[in-house]
Amino acid sequence: MFAPARPPVVSDATARDVAAIAELHAGSFRRGWSDDEIDGILADRNVAAHRATVGRNFAGFIISRIAADEAEILSVAVSPRFQGRAIARMLLRHHLGRLAALGVRTVFLEVDEGNDPALRLYRRAGFTEVGRRAGYYPNPGGKPAAALVLRRNLV
Ligand SMILES: CC(C)(COP(=O)(O)OP(=O)(O)OC[C@H]1O[C@@H](n2cnc3c(N)ncnc32)[C@H](O)[C@@H]1OP(=O)(O)O)[C@@H](O)C(=O)NCCC(=O)NCCS
Repeated sequence: MFAPARPPVVSDATARDVAAIAELHAGSFRRGWSDDEIDGILADRNVAAHRATVGRNFAGFIISRIAADEAEILSVAVSPRFQGRAIARMLLRHHLGRLAALGVRTVFLEVDEGNDPALRLYRRAGFTEVGRRAGYYPNPGGKPAAALVLRRNLV
């Protein structure tokens, strides 16, 4: 008999998650963050960071930087083996709830206009486009992609 699939659990990301975040970030983005960079980000008092785990597996993370009553989502990623299971949706919902509890009223982020999964994630969560930076993301061998600036009000 198969064991039932374990549900994802979202919790605070801490210094113990640096290596897992660095590995997932490097596999998800063209420019990875070093362990030291992530260590510095997580140690910043103005940063909110959450992780998702499935059993003992690190499945994903989301990180924002807060400035007064605004926050910017710096990065979100889910491990390819756990994608398509609504883990990013769960991470984002939890994260926005914590940001609201910390007094954040407006959340911004930048996303590659061609990143369909991310755009679906954010649009479903109520983010709307408020700007566009043409040629923002380098695209080796192709035209640089635009970054869309998305915003969501929390109150
Ligand atoms: C974006 C990302 C975090 C989504 O993680 P996920 O856990 O698979 O997302 P979810 O399962 O919660 O699904 C979110 C939405 O993406 C859609 N989606 C998931 N995988 C997809 C795919 N391969 N192609 C198109 N849409 C996809 C889902 O259908 C869902 O949209 P819906 O609610 O309209 O159905 C993940 O794809 C990832 O880590 N990508 C690499 C890093 C990245 O691009 N981060 C965002 C930078 S701004």
